[in-house]
Amino acid sequence: MITVQNVTKRYATKMAVEGVSFQVEKGEILGFLGPNGAGKTTTMRIITGYMPASDGTVRVDGFDVFENPIDVRRRIGYLPENPPLYVEMTVTGYLRFVAKIKGVPKERLDSEVADVMERTSITDVKDRVIAKLSKGYKQRVGIAQALLNDPPVLILDEPTIGLDPKQIHEVRQLIKDLAGKHTVVLSTHILPEVEQTCHRVIIIDRGKIVAVDTPQNLRLQLQGAERISIEVQGPVSEILSKLRAMPGVVDVRKIADIDGRHRLEVEGELRKDIRSDLARMIVQNGWGLYELQSSTMSLEDIFLKLTTAEESEKQNA
Ligand SMILES: Nc1ncnc2c1ncn2[C@@H]1O[C@H](COP(=O)(O)OP(=O)(O)OP(=O)(O)O)[C@@H](O)[C@H]1O
Ligand SMILES: [Mg+2]
Repeated sequence: MITVQNVTKRYATKMAVEGVSFQVEKGEILGFLGPNGAGKTTTMRIITGYMPASDGTVRVDGFDVFENPIDVRRRIGYLPENPPLYVEMTVTGYLRFVAKIKGVPKERLDSEVADVMERTSITDVKDRVIAKLSKGYKQRVGIAQALLNDPPVLILDEPTIGLDPKQIHEVRQLIKDLAGKHTVVLSTHILPEVEQTCHRVIIIDRGKIVAVDTPQNLRLQLQGAERISIEVQGPVSEILSKLRAMPGVVDVRKIADIDGRHRLEVEGELRKDIRSDLARMIVQNGWGLYELQSSTMSLEDIFLKLTTAEESEKQNA
């Protein structure tokens, strides 16, 4: 549905996006994850045709964004980073105005506006002036305008920013409900967002894609190893050397000593469950086992690993 090929965006002196390529299948929800300044908004503006790329091509539903911008825009509902709301208008007035621009036929105008207000839970503020709404409500008005005329593609730049936890939950559910029929690209720097709503994640950092995969695979591929935290009582140097010699164990580190017990971190080989072997080894040697807990790396750890690795490489260079 969306094909981005080798897109580069240069601002005066700054490379905002560099050689970015990816595809989004019909019905898919793709998450664009990256820290501040990574190039998420820039990429989205290019896809929606609001800004030309310096290089590269973008096609939406077969239409080239540069050659057929009107065809592309007609197929996209866009929630920009700062939605250009006409703050002196009422919610209904504004949504009717946008619906007209989007070419919603007159006879469907009222029902279409009522429908998007219902889906974004803003019906109760429909007669309020936008300027007087809270940030969360303004954000929902922005999402509502993107949904008008039921576009097949939705580009949502940080859709849950400024919302309270209940609203975040509602908006994520709304986005999930759009999947299948709609193709969605959303940006965020919040990790649970992609884990909970997206089929696939692109991690972008300093204008470059550093990883593309499902949230599950990203975690699996990049975690490298299983980590098991144990608390044991006994002769620490013997414990360390015996555990290190166990099959499936990559490394054992001592984290702390607490009241004569030792907290150790055992790193196991990827996808190998060594917990019962560990427990057996400890018990058979007559050491005391007080705790055993495995911790897989969260997407947050992976994200930090990916987006800070380059930094340290740079510093080392
Ligand atoms: N109009 C502009 N002129 C010059 N540089 C810009 C302009 N817009 C963005 N940039 C720069 O391009 C880079 C990418 O910015 P972009 O807004 O795409 O990042 P982002 O991933 O959306 O970040 P955020 O999470 O803060 O929204 C940043 O370094 C930013 O400073
Ligand atoms: Mg942005």
